[in-house]
Amino acid sequence: MKQSEPHILVIFGASGDLTKRKLIPALYELHTQQFLPEKFAVLGVSRTNLPDDVFRTKMKEFLPQQPQLQESVDAFLEHLYYQKLSTSDAVEYPVLKARLGELGKSLSIPENYIFYLSTPPNLYQIIPESLATVGLNDKSNGFKRLIIEKPFGTDIKSAQALNKNLLNYFDEDQLYRIDHYLGKETVQNMLVTRFSNGIFEPIWNHNFIHHIEITSAETLGVEDRGGYYDHSGAMRDMVQNHLMQVVGLVAMEPPVIIEADAIRNEILKVFQSLRPIKETEVEKFVIRGQYTQSHIGKELVKGYREESGVDDHSRTETFLAIKFFIDNFRWAGVPFYIRTGKKLPARVTEVVIHFKNTPHHLFGNQAGTEPVSNQLVLRIQPDEGILLKIGMKVPGAGFRVQTVNMNFHYNELSDVYLPSAYGRLLLDCMQGDATLYARGDAVEKAWEFVQPILNAWQNNPDIPIYGYPAGTWGPEVTDDLMDDGLWRFPCKNLAHDGEYCEL
Ligand code: BG6
Repeated sequence: MKQSEPHILVIFGASGDLTKRKLIPALYELHTQQFLPEKFAVLGVSRTNLPDDVFRTKMKEFLPQQPQLQESVDAFLEHLYYQKLSTSDAVEYPVLKARLGELGKSLSIPENYIFYLSTPPNLYQIIPESLATVGLNDKSNGFKRLIIEKPFGTDIKSAQALNKNLLNYFDEDQLYRIDHYLGKETVQNMLVTRFSNGIFEPIWNHNFIHHIEITSAETLGVEDRGGYYDHSGAMRDMVQNHLMQVVGLVAMEPPVIIEADAIRNEILKVFQSLRPIKETEVEKFVIRGQYTQSHIGKELVKGYREESGVDDHSRTETFLAIKFFIDNFRWAGVPFYIRTGKKLPARVTEVVIHFKNTPHHLFGNQAGTEPVSNQLVLRIQPDEGILLKIGMKVPGAGFRVQTVNMNFHYNELSDVYLPSAYGRLLLDCMQGDATLYARGDAVEKAWEFVQPILNAWQNNPDIPIYGYPAGTWGPEVTDDLMDDGLWRFPCKNLAHDGEYCEL
């Protein structure tokens, strides 16, 4: 594995949730795996005044607590520093530059910097601009990279404006738009499944595939994020970014090489081929829903509108199902479906490739035989793995056919270390590899696709938003969207399915 060059990682928004819950634990994980360079520092930046040691103590709470690990935790904490800064105030940036200079000198780290924007998006304008004003975008004397968290805009216009602003101060090759779905091992494995196996790629097209179903279900509701979510909804929160990236990987052509631009060019082509859903067609192709109060077991579960931070009359979708097409040679006529939602019966993310049936139903007249629908399930989480459903003869007289499962579970690879999504992505950025980061043009294309749907909802309040009781698979009308097939009802266990799952 390539070693990362010595550098300082600056985290803007160091007192925020993401830093504590994801970034610091991911960096610790990289430290324990010896993936961090020897000369490395993290500089947390935020408005509160904190000495370095207090910042370290605060971060320690989010690291493993087992006594036998304390030596390695303490060794990691030595790399953390803190700088008070009013991020929105351009005049304060010389202070940041001076601190970076001091740290670099005392730790012998050259001017290689990664700036992680873990802040509210309203600072995405001022931070890059202010960094540039003090020359912290200048890559001539060391790399300068900027990691940006979603949302990359809240609509097509703001996404374009954001990209334009970023490009005023940084080059595209310095920009790392993080989409943690691309950091998931199982999402990356979709490329390997497709392009390293001789058996799948020849049938990965409209001649053999009937339709493709992508489900990303969560059992949790909006928890304490009602204020944010009510202005976002499932389309902006999950579909425009995470699930469109998954579509990109499932549908793309083989890249010429495994390299950032080669892969991201192919993803872009998929987005360019999406058949637009016009505002007038939204009711036909998209179902939106919102969870309502219900009983799950004995527990009374709140409806979305009762959640804190949510408007009493909110029409924000917590569930979304969409049917769409990719108009190119490979996918002509193949429907793609995406279904995502909060407060569904299981936490599951998976892609299901539904293959066409055999041209002739040879065993159809055997009592008890149903046509076999071959499905390849690429399970992203949990119980990560791959499942193939095939027809098998039921032993005994006649030719009765039954569908059986062939499956592989990642946890069978007990000696293999599965990095966290953030760990993997941070490491890639440290090594200058943007393959698993979203590129600006693709982000805008994905917005172009979803924008008419958002417009239709905003302009036509008559488009229904269906209630669904918390703990169910969304509004019943979702079934009608899939006019030639049935949604899979996945369970937490990859090989199980059906409306009634183990809890
Ligand atoms: C985040 C969304 O980006 O992804 C959340 O803001 C969502 O609402 C989360 O719960 C899902 O991520 P994961 O990795 O748990 O599937």
